[in-house]
Amino acid sequence: MSINIKKDNLIYPYFIQEGVNKKSAIKSFPDVYRFSIDRLLGDIKETSQLGVKKILLFGIPVKKCFDGASAYAKDNIISVAIKKIKQEFNDVIVITDVCLCAYTTHGHCGVLKKGKKELDNKSTLKALSNMALSHACSGVDWVAPSAMAEKQVLAIRGTLDKNGFRRTKIMGYSAKFASNFYGPFRQAQDSFPKFGDRRAYQLDPADRNKALQEISDDIDEGADIVMVKPALGYLDIIKEASQKFNHPLAAYNVSGEYAFVKYGAKQGLWDERAMVFEIITSIKRAGADLIITYHAKDIAKWLKEQ
Ligand code: PBG
Repeated sequence: MSINIKKDNLIYPYFIQEGVNKKSAIKSFPDVYRFSIDRLLGDIKETSQLGVKKILLFGIPVKKCFDGASAYAKDNIISVAIKKIKQEFNDVIVITDVCLCAYTTHGHCGVLKKGKKELDNKSTLKALSNMALSHACSGVDWVAPSAMAEKQVLAIRGTLDKNGFRRTKIMGYSAKFASNFYGPFRQAQDSFPKFGDRRAYQLDPADRNKALQEISDDIDEGADIVMVKPALGYLDIIKEASQKFNHPLAAYNVSGEYAFVKYGAKQGLWDERAMVFEIITSIKRAGADLIITYHAKDIAKWLKEQ
């Protein structure tokens, strides 16, 4: 018996950098690149032709600032990218990460309290709402708030609705654990926190109840899709969430999980394709409707060959 993996279930992440004609490798993130927008469009064409029609965008701005305002400045890198993608591809669903960590000089996910090393929730909500709105104005289909600020989905939903973007969907990073598996991603986005860690706002891996509560809260706040992240160490949470809430559910097969597979395959420890199918099957079996994976393009190619 095999679980049916569909290209429709997959979301492929992209890292976008400023400049032209750039496709840069990332040291500890095999086969994942940072694209300038012109090169990005070529790659999306390939992805789309393979049948993967959902992409998730992360920006890497040249200039960071203390409060992360470059995330929603006019002509910010992501807004420009969305417009260009939407002009060229009308059947690709464009999703954007809404978080400040790549835009702040300190590398934390929101705005800090004056003179302190902790997040100010109110100003963080404002910044995240501005960021989501700037993406919506550029034509994004879904926004995905990942800062783990209290009531981020509610704040963003309110701002979008007030500005006439009722149809822009929200995919909440609802149960996002303070995980060790985000290493390659932070290298890609240059978003390592410069002090401390993210445990003040990301979830304790041992806290199952809080994770389920966060998912329930996001649904109440208006999330169209909820997410569990990472996927593999948290299949039990995916399973529980899929049983408890009758709500579209995504799972993020994160960068560290991807790197494990890649490095092991390069060492000849396992067959990459067989390993990826096993992993994706497990995540689907646990109950995820959507899977965000850096292997999405590979999977589409492999499905074609079958
Ligand atoms: C932004 C964000 C992170 C990831 C997705 N959005 C990093 C983090 O929280 O530190 C990680 C994704 C991955 O590892 O693939 N906050």
